[in-house]
Amino acid sequence: MEKILIVDDDEGLVHFLVRFFSKQGYGVSSCNDGKTALELVDHESFDLILLDYKMPGMNGLDTLKAIRRSQVRTPVIVMTAYGTTDTAIEAMKLGAYDYLLKPFDREELKRLAGDALEVNRLMKDTVSIPGFSTRPPQKGTVRIIGNHRWMQEVYKLIGQVAGKDVTILITGESGTGKELVARAIYHHSHRKDKLFLPVNCAAIPDTLFESELFGHERGAFTGAERTHIGKFERCHGGTLFFDEIGDMSLSTQAKVLRTLQYGEFERLGGTQTIRADVRILAATNKNLEQAVEQGRFREDLYWRLKIIAIHLPPLRERVEDIPALAEYFIGHFNEEFQTSVRHMADGAMERLKSYSWPGNVRELENCIKRAVLLSQGDVILEEHLRIDSQDRRPFQYSSRDQLLASIEGRLDELIPDLLELSSDKIHESILDLVEDALVSKVLKLCGYNQVKAARMLGISRNTLRHRMKKFQIFSSSNQA
Ligand SMILES: Nc1ncnc2c1ncn2[C@@H]1O[C@H](COP(=O)(O)OP(=O)(O)OP(=O)(O)O)[C@@H](O)[C@H]1O
Ligand SMILES: [Mg+2]
Repeated sequence: MEKILIVDDDEGLVHFLVRFFSKQGYGVSSCNDGKTALELVDHESFDLILLDYKMPGMNGLDTLKAIRRSQVRTPVIVMTAYGTTDTAIEAMKLGAYDYLLKPFDREELKRLAGDALEVNRLMKDTVSIPGFSTRPPQKGTVRIIGNHRWMQEVYKLIGQVAGKDVTILITGESGTGKELVARAIYHHSHRKDKLFLPVNCAAIPDTLFESELFGHERGAFTGAERTHIGKFERCHGGTLFFDEIGDMSLSTQAKVLRTLQYGEFERLGGTQTIRADVRILAATNKNLEQAVEQGRFREDLYWRLKIIAIHLPPLRERVEDIPALAEYFIGHFNEEFQTSVRHMADGAMERLKSYSWPGNVRELENCIKRAVLLSQGDVILEEHLRIDSQDRRPFQYSSRDQLLASIEGRLDELIPDLLELSSDKIHESILDLVEDALVSKVLKLCGYNQVKAARMLGISRNTLRHRMKKFQIFSSSNQA
């Protein structure tokens, strides 16, 4: 269970936060001053700390400095009153993960805490590489499995470059373990006690993305209500992982290149030059060389990234590794689901070895997960595997952005059809059509419970009723 520590002298807020996080299944501890917080972090390791800035006795900044000394990787979110952005930024310079301006709403809290916990997981679950460490793997260690000649090359390369501060480009098809390798490099680098921040370059509009990276000053663009510290600045001393770098826009590429070359940049709308010492790891499943030829990727940035390139082979080209991977995942899921699968029947193993694995290790992992759950005994049989190519299971998305991109892609296909249908009596626009279909489906899904449906759709019950009337959606509970 992940553990959260809350430090604030406002008892009411502490009470709310304890309930908020306990309900979501986290272990929560709390206290009202900095001195007690330090005693707590001395004895217990936390996954996230929420720290008030203004407290009697030891203030938030001093507490933060002391916490960073004992729990270097635990993300700390500093909570501070509105109008004190400067102190919040000061806190971030001292290693706070981010800040929350009071009063904050639940959504903001949930999003920020979720991000911080995700980063915490990436940093704390050490990735071990075969042949590297002589110590037995500790709890929370993730292993890279595979003995194939190509994988051995990969391990050798990681060993040679992890400790040097060079930029590394990791390539390979989807699901081949690029993120895993990036984390392994980080865990074996001198920067392992500093931040590891992933940045997904896909499917984020340009201005937003640049502000994510470089931050912005208040008023830099519409909606920029307060100064925002970007990932480059936040990650000073640490490692930034650009995932899906092939999707980065040309204008962002130019800015990133400049930052890599000179170690400096400006926040959006800002004039002050900020220095950041950041190591870059990048990954892509696209052919960057081709992207360069087509003018979609800057050649100078490509060469800079490619100084050291690690390529991960697709699973179908290292079939010998499948038994070891299968065994590893069986062990992992046995632990997670408290099952006791011991081995895989010969027929099932043959099946695994003869399949082409378009989704690579991720697909194998999901396949084993399902088989462990279905097997209900100690053997996995062929019938527990769902891997024939006819089988169109929903694809497992690695990130929210990937999922969003896929939804957008499917919408592209639908829009021409929708256009043909719109402007009938009750549907004046595409939005109407989509809204009608969505509202009807969600209502059905909720057994026509309007309270539930409204919550799921994120609208008020009144708005829902309005839509039902407009689109003539009737249900037995319409009068409820
Ligand atoms: N060699 C390996 N040993 C053990 N687990 C692996 C290995 N390679 C990949 N995995 C697991 O497979 C899953 C997918 O790996 P990862 O997310 O690193 O792939 P990726 O190349 O980044 O994929 P994508 O391009 O889709 O983002 C993860 O759960 C990872 O832990
Ligand atoms: Mg990935």
